[in-house]
Amino acid sequence: MANLLRRIWELPPRDAIRKALRRVRAKKGYDLDDLLRSSKHMNSQLFYNFLSRYESILHRSHGWDALVFEGQDVLEVGCGPVLGFGPLALFLGAASYTGVDPTFQPEWALHPRLRDKYYLGIYKDLSGIFGPRMTCERWLELLHTNARVFSATILDADLAGRSFGIMLSNSTIEHVEPLGPSVARLRELAAPGVRFIHLVDFGNHRATRSPFSGIYAVEPDAYRQKYGRGINLARPPDVLRIFDEAGFSAAMQPYYWFREFYDEPILPYWSNRYSDDDLFLKCAIVFSAGR
Ligand SMILES: C[S@@+](CC[C@H](N)C(=O)[O-])C[C@H]1O[C@@H](n2cnc3c(N)ncnc32)[C@H](O)[C@@H]1O
Repeated sequence: MANLLRRIWELPPRDAIRKALRRVRAKKGYDLDDLLRSSKHMNSQLFYNFLSRYESILHRSHGWDALVFEGQDVLEVGCGPVLGFGPLALFLGAASYTGVDPTFQPEWALHPRLRDKYYLGIYKDLSGIFGPRMTCERWLELLHTNARVFSATILDADLAGRSFGIMLSNSTIEHVEPLGPSVARLRELAAPGVRFIHLVDFGNHRATRSPFSGIYAVEPDAYRQKYGRGINLARPPDVLRIFDEAGFSAAMQPYYWFREFYDEPILPYWSNRYSDDDLFLKCAIVFSAGR
């Protein structure tokens, strides 16, 4: 608390107010009005957009065959408030969709008011792209019966005895703590031949000109003291090693680097451990290799 007050004290007044409000909101969670007002969360094309971009990159770079959802049990880590990739997976024939996200609030995800504002748009979009595979009513029914989200971390969710042929996450791996045991848990839950795509964003998740501002001029403990534990600070080789050690056959495809605007020193802590390419890789896709 003392740390938080000191950090707020050091900020310009407008930033301080914004930051304090964000804290208060994060504590109370989100509600239906927050969701309905959010242009990000109400963007019906968002998750198709994410998946199709990642699959295009993997196809170009590794000849990746598009995921086939038909009959698969799908797990998403950090799905966010409105079922993440679930609506897409179930439209494309997945047997089930399971999300895990500690901030998920089940009372809102399928609230009738989201039907017109969010889900109807997804149905129209997917029907245009893939053809009308089912009626909107049938698909909405599948969202109620075959999608389930645990309001828990991947380590705490009660998934005993389950296994999943497809695993997905979008901008979540960089937030997961502890990362090693969490990825090991994912491995236990993986069906033979599991296919996965995890988009990892290595930036600071703050609105700075360089997405790495503030990270490399201090050691990790000092960074956490100043900015909290919102990101785990694992760099690209750490993430890949953790997937390897867990027993996944994983590879990492760089999406893009962001060297622009970085004008701070880089401590030996970072430069001794990581190459320049590792330090400035902004987004990468961790994916199942071998197919
Ligand atoms: C940046 S948000 C991304 C949400 C969503 N995937 C999207 O792209 O809009 C990261 C999400 O990961 C979740 N998360 C953080 N740690 C987690 C963990 N250990 N297990 C599962 N989810 C986690 C957070 O609650 C948050 O909703």
